[in-house]
Amino acid sequence: MCQITCFWHINYLTYLNKILRPVSTILEIKNLNKTYTSGDKHLTVLHDVNFVLQAGDTCSIVGPSGSGKTTLLGLSAGLDRASSGSVILSGIKLDNLSEDERAQVRNQYVGFIFQNFQLIPTLTALENVMVPLELRGERNVQRQAMDLLARVGLADRHDHYPTQLSGGEQQRVSIARAFSNRPTILFADEPTGNLDEETGEKVEKLLFELNREAGTTLVLVTHDLELAEKTQRIIRIKGGTIVSDTGAPEAIAAQNDTNSDFNQEA
Ligand SMILES: Nc1ncnc2c1ncn2[C@@H]1O[C@H](COP(=O)(O)OP(=O)(O)OP(=O)(O)O)[C@@H](O)[C@H]1O
Ligand SMILES: [Mg+2]
Repeated sequence: MCQITCFWHINYLTYLNKILRPVSTILEIKNLNKTYTSGDKHLTVLHDVNFVLQAGDTCSIVGPSGSGKTTLLGLSAGLDRASSGSVILSGIKLDNLSEDERAQVRNQYVGFIFQNFQLIPTLTALENVMVPLELRGERNVQRQAMDLLARVGLADRHDHYPTQLSGGEQQRVSIARAFSNRPTILFADEPTGNLDEETGEKVEKLLFELNREAGTTLVLVTHDLELAEKTQRIIRIKGGTIVSDTGAPEAIAAQNDTNSDFNQEA
């Protein structure tokens, strides 16, 4: 009798969990292709890329240099336009939006940590972090930006310009700027690539804290396989094509099918 009651109790809890915490798609990439053209030369760097991320997922994109990782990240974040295919971010189809409209979407949902930092050279570290807060019309912009710089260990360098900072320090300013957006989805292109081991670990901790505490979806491009292993999903890309996608719901379902076939045969 107890067994039957417990069975129904667990099923009821699972059901409650499902309806109270519905899974929502944050990023949908459909048949994405990108060709760069200069003069009469065409270089296709992404071929028919497809994947879907749910809100709160953590995902790494790995692959050799030149395989299209930065290009894929930029298209996913609406920084650039695909040659064909679709990017749907938080339910908004980006394909036919103007540059201004895409900037609005980015401002509302996206944080981006660039491989080459892309700080504004004429602004100090503090002012760089303040820009997204000002664009959002936030209050106490200066205090918030100082707090973010303190989180990346750069409070005492707030009045320095990018050229007065080392590569790793510029990287940390760019991380503070990306966090200032309180993004729904954070794209990070080699976020620890320019950092020493200790600072890299701090940054890694900050990224995963943001995921746990604010539910921010993380999409990391990295050559660091130890970091990649810490995300739920690893998309491996080679020559502009996805060659494996471990941890994807489809891959897990396929694995479960294989296991249940195996169990049946056993
Ligand atoms: N604006 C552009 N115009 C022409 N070719 C480009 C442009 N941007 C990137 N490419 C080319 O597209 C290919 C993919 O570049 P991408 O930067 O996406 O690679 P990646 O995987 O991020 O490499 P890395 O690991 O070295 O950062 C490369 O061959 C690169 O030279
Ligand atoms: Mg790159």
